[in-house]
Amino acid sequence: MAELIRLESLRVVYSQKVVLDGLDLTVAPGEFVTVCGQTGCGKSTMLRLILGSEQPAAGKVLIDGVQLPRPDRNRGYVPQKYSLFPDKTVLENITFGPETEEFGLLGRLTPKFFKRREEFRAEARRLLQQMGLQQADAEKYPDQLSGGMQQRVAIAQALIMRPKILLMDEAFSALDPGTRSEMQKLVRNLWRETGTTVLFVTHNIAEAIYLGTRVVVLGKESPETPARVTLDLAVPEDCRTETGYPRREDLERMMKQVEDAALGGKLELEMAEFAG
Ligand SMILES: Nc1ncnc2c1ncn2[C@@H]1O[C@H](COP(=O)(O)OP(=O)(O)OP(=O)(O)O)[C@@H](O)[C@H]1O
Ligand SMILES: [Mg+2]
Repeated sequence: MAELIRLESLRVVYSQKVVLDGLDLTVAPGEFVTVCGQTGCGKSTMLRLILGSEQPAAGKVLIDGVQLPRPDRNRGYVPQKYSLFPDKTVLENITFGPETEEFGLLGRLTPKFFKRREEFRAEARRLLQQMGLQQADAEKYPDQLSGGMQQRVAIAQALIMRPKILLMDEAFSALDPGTRSEMQKLVRNLWRETGTTVLFVTHNIAEAIYLGTRVVVLGKESPETPARVTLDLAVPEDCRTETGYPRREDLERMMKQVEDAALGGKLELEMAEFAG
């Protein structure tokens, strides 16, 4: 199987606490991998390692077979606490990435820049429309937008770079249920259309199963032990109905598997004894 991302025996230590140890994972191009696990188990850390903004204490992160020392345009990132530039309009927020990549911060007073800027702006407007935002929103500032709208802008900001890999950290956790399910459909459609490889962290197990072609669970034996992959579950396309959701019985079975893997065998045992 072709592989785009390979995590090899990763170890991460923060102030002498081992957060991840011996973590292995490979992701093929075009997969939509959702990542679940209890709070503090290292999901965001794993995304930052793939992004390249952090390096492991031991082990390797290989992207297309190569270790990369820092983030680049091939890896888009929508962080857990997204932050748009408050002093830039929606349009300026989205075009900042490609403008800076091509012209840096200083090389902007040339005719070529103004021509390219129009092209970036046209692309940003197209993305906004695709994300269900109005053209009038393009001139607004972030604090004039709802959380859901800001989240769409943050996603557009990542998408305009056309990354090969899109890393999203609890991107929908602050949204109301209606907006959330709209955004889920949108991201799944975008993934289908662009073939981008996605890693998506979420606490919502139903969301993980709906979005993912594969659900990876990070779990711990106890709060002191580092997390490892406790479940790597394929979500077969043929268990989905025409709504895109897995059939009820499949969904319930998979949710139970994910829940058990996230809590760890030990906790499950304690609950069973308690229930008995
Ligand atoms: N920069 C840091 N310095 C020290 N400790 C850190 C740092 N970043 C993360 N940690 C610790 O590493 C562990 C994993 O953190 P991480 O943010 O990856 O967890 P998470 O699974 O994303 O949690 P959540 O679901 O709450 O977002 C936690 O114990 C956290 O306190
Ligand atoms: Mg996190």
